[in-house]
Amino acid sequence: MNISKRDFLRMSAAGLAYMPNALSAQTDLLSVTARVADVQLLPDDYGKTQIWGFDGIAPGPEIRVTQGARVKRRIINDLPDPTSTHWHGIRIENAMDGVAGLTQDSVRPGQGFDYDFIAPDAGTYWYHAHNRSFEQVARGLQGALIVEEPEPIDVDREEVLILDDWRIDPETAQIADTFGAMHDLSHAGRLGNYITTNGTYNLARKVKRHERLRLRLINASNARIFQLALDGLEGWVVAMDGMPLATPRPVEGSFLLSSAQRVDLIVDVTAEMGSAGHLVHLGGDETFSQVAFEVTSDGARAPRGTPRPLPPNAHAMPDLANARDIALLMEGGAMGGMRGAMMGGRMSSMRDMMQAGSFWAFNGAVGGMDGPPLAELSLGETVRLKITNDTSFPHAMHLHGMHFYEIERDGSLGAFRDTTLLDRGEVRDIAFVADNPGKWLLHCHMLSHAAAGMMAWVNVS
Ligand code: C2O
Ligand code: CU
Repeated sequence: MNISKRDFLRMSAAGLAYMPNALSAQTDLLSVTARVADVQLLPDDYGKTQIWGFDGIAPGPEIRVTQGARVKRRIINDLPDPTSTHWHGIRIENAMDGVAGLTQDSVRPGQGFDYDFIAPDAGTYWYHAHNRSFEQVARGLQGALIVEEPEPIDVDREEVLILDDWRIDPETAQIADTFGAMHDLSHAGRLGNYITTNGTYNLARKVKRHERLRLRLINASNARIFQLALDGLEGWVVAMDGMPLATPRPVEGSFLLSSAQRVDLIVDVTAEMGSAGHLVHLGGDETFSQVAFEVTSDGARAPRGTPRPLPPNAHAMPDLANARDIALLMEGGAMGGMRGAMMGGRMSSMRDMMQAGSFWAFNGAVGGMDGPPLAELSLGETVRLKITNDTSFPHAMHLHGMHFYEIERDGSLGAFRDTTLLDRGEVRDIAFVADNPGKWLLHCHMLSHAAAGMMAWVNVS
């Protein structure tokens, strides 16, 4: 426990009028401090990089609880800017969702916020800054939130693998200070030039042949869509965005993981002794090892065959026959052909929008948190949302507070997840039961897109 920090907070809080995020000196909450730090992010022959990290590291400290337990953290803001912390994918109570400007005020420097909530679902989740997230997440404010099943899963070990993409100036080794650049806002988002796993570019693990691992992959990047494959590993997808698949699905060929998405894999090491298996990153013309699994000893066991499914997380099933239909048309961006949209209550030209740093529209209006909700939903009703991506870029649409089903082309329910990737021109229906009261954001998780108009919210009451 950091006594000097606590004393400082008590002093700085003393002169302030009561605010909901003012801190009491006494707490049984563990604290995590969002702060500036210099870390060795690049290879050793480069200098250190200044990041913003939870407890000064990126990824931040792993938070791990058992299903049904409470997560209790006092997040202290020791950054130069206001912040808030969002618990991505957790079906949380609204007041704990951490969206500055919608569910709480942003937390000013020297202040903190006490987050205390139940983790209802087992699975792989994450937490990240949710104020100016296109900057704060890019600077490193993210970490894993792991909710364990009550009973152990039949694997030899697990690895949490947080994939990230940094934009670094190689001359200075510093994070490029180009947050909110027009090109990022209007094109594919803030793509980086330095890809890491768990904060390092060459993550390697020693494994045994035939060892069975659970890999928890989290894409914490601003905008990069990772295309991944396995080599020397035989694998199955067992969960997406935290939620178990009813039947594990073999990994064949490559798969995509967009910003904010997670996938849990169970893999058996099939590479020969003395060689390595890989999580492979297919990036354009380059193919490289995202994570290497070096086989350094012979496991005693033989291959084990298809794994059992993870235990399901209980949730209400959508009632599609009585669903409320809502449409969401996504337009704008570079090469999108949009002429203008409503902005601040007025019809505005694309040129006026650009001047305001806005490039995208939802249903004809630049989105944000200030306007009216996309929909007022009654508690318990089923919503069927048709999302049309009428732009020249892919988008990763994320709903807070509730998971949704992707609806397959034949009308059946597909994956149950919290972030869905729509390719350019793609149309997808999703369905969810509005069973969590409160104000819930719905936005593109390419964070520069969210900042430039790809944001809406729904109210459930
Ligand atoms: Cu992971 Cu609104 O965010
Ligand atoms: Cu987008």
